[in-house]
Amino acid sequence: MARILITSALPYINGIKHLGNLVGSQLPADLFARYMRGRGNEVLFLCATDEHGTPAELAAAKAGKPVAEYCAELHEVQADIARRFGLSFDHFGRSSSPQNHKLTQHLAGVLADNGLIREVSEKQVYSKADGRFLPDRYIEGTCPNCGYDRARGDQCENCTKQLDPTDLIEPRSAVSGSTDLEVRETKHLYLRQSALKDDLDKWIDSKTDWPILTTSIAKKWLHDGDGLQDRGITRDLDWGIPVKRGDADWPGMEGKVFYVWFDAPIEYIACAAEWAEATGNDWERWWRTDKGAGDVRYVQFMGKDNVPFHTLSFPATLLGSGEPWKMVDHLKSFNYLNYDGGQFSTSQGRGVFMDQALDILPADYWRWWLLSHAPESSDSEFTWENFQQSVNKDLADVLGNFVSRITKFCRSKFGETVPDGGSYGAQEETLIAELTRRIRAYEAHMDTMEVRKSAQELRAIWVAGNEYLQTAAPWATFKEDPERAAMQVRLGLNLIRLYAVLSAPFIPAASASMLEAMQTEDSAWPEDVAAALAALPGGHAFSVPEVLFAKITDEQREDWESRFSGSRP
Ligand code: 2FM
Ligand code: ZN
Repeated sequence: MARILITSALPYINGIKHLGNLVGSQLPADLFARYMRGRGNEVLFLCATDEHGTPAELAAAKAGKPVAEYCAELHEVQADIARRFGLSFDHFGRSSSPQNHKLTQHLAGVLADNGLIREVSEKQVYSKADGRFLPDRYIEGTCPNCGYDRARGDQCENCTKQLDPTDLIEPRSAVSGSTDLEVRETKHLYLRQSALKDDLDKWIDSKTDWPILTTSIAKKWLHDGDGLQDRGITRDLDWGIPVKRGDADWPGMEGKVFYVWFDAPIEYIACAAEWAEATGNDWERWWRTDKGAGDVRYVQFMGKDNVPFHTLSFPATLLGSGEPWKMVDHLKSFNYLNYDGGQFSTSQGRGVFMDQALDILPADYWRWWLLSHAPESSDSEFTWENFQQSVNKDLADVLGNFVSRITKFCRSKFGETVPDGGSYGAQEETLIAELTRRIRAYEAHMDTMEVRKSAQELRAIWVAGNEYLQTAAPWATFKEDPERAAMQVRLGLNLIRLYAVLSAPFIPAASASMLEAMQTEDSAWPEDVAAALAALPGGHAFSVPEVLFAKITDEQREDWESRFSGSRP
């Protein structure tokens, strides 16, 4: 049994995530976690809300709530949606937790002790009316490039030009609207990533099995232009982890907090400490190589925009600490999912968001489509037509129909127990050989996190059962040879149990219904396919399940298409 630590990129707290966010991190991470548990491994699957920084402050201000209260509420909202999507986190934590405060301050202290932090004096805009320094995006004004009068200090939304706050014409505070601004000197801490460049380079070179998407992004940041730059790790904000050097105050850093991208990945570790505190487990055996984490395999899931932080900044923090932290072994990154000819967008409310998706269909419908169309080798696109087609064909026609046909036929001819009698012939041996080959291929794809290929193979496994049923035709056999028909039906019912086990990582709720209908809790992985197909013996009771997957009608598709064509209100 292996020990596998899995983390998904932490979703920002500022609102409900869209399906593009989901498919780039949490959902494939869940697929992998469920599969690895199904294979009998010890898994710790962690995720948390990423709660600090300007986006959280801005969203709370927009909601008219104190930021701590806003974050607490949104954390609960996100946790509930994650649960309803079947995301099987062992713990869904919060980057604002006391554990993360402590660990972030500890790591900053150790990095400083190791000479890897330097203080830098910078000029920054200060708002007298607000009594605070303003982050770039908190300053608004007229764009010098296009004249748009609501350009932000970091970028003009209208013409996309990257800006410096001092470029803006008639700048004002986005907090209060005040124009009483001045440039003041302020001190910040920088992590000396440049001093760790060679260590990082060596470490990345040792990762020969990483996807090209991952290593190419990391190498680009390491070598392009002037190479890896030192990174500011503090901010002048109210909300965040106060800058301290371990337990001690940091002279000159009063009133400042750590930058959100410094503390967020540290939450991967702190989240395990939160989990341990809640459950009485030991988190260090997952995270400290001197305390048993040496044999842990650590896999991270994220969208491509997160790769630099996970291949360089966070590893720089851990390597630079000189402490024996577990480092990531495999990093699975994704391209983007687009929405109907454009991009999913949180700020513009474009696309389908997780809560809306669950309002119209159960999670498994979405899980199947998203995973079977995961943006792995390139960006992919959600269209309602493709969604309808894939649900109707794969889930309703292939899997759902198989389950319904065999259970209903058995009930009508043999009653609601698995029939006894008959023995396998050539057709059954051929099916078992094909299933064995395909299941081994499915395992190989799942082991290497090839999400789309895994879905294709799973679908082919469902199709093989359907084709068997079609050619075996127990409804015809029954008339001349009821014993043979009994064997065929018994095999069919066992296939339902087998499909439930194999499909659980993709469609956990439907899999649970299939096992429930087969009245079994035996969800052992089919190491030996022939044995797995004898798990339900003659005489075992079952019931006919409700329709597993309803087809999406053209009217529904058209209705949803128009309902989701604009922006979320
Ligand atoms: O891009 C995002 O959604 C970030 N909140 C991901 C953070 S991942 C980690 F490092 F915490
Ligand atoms: Zn502009």
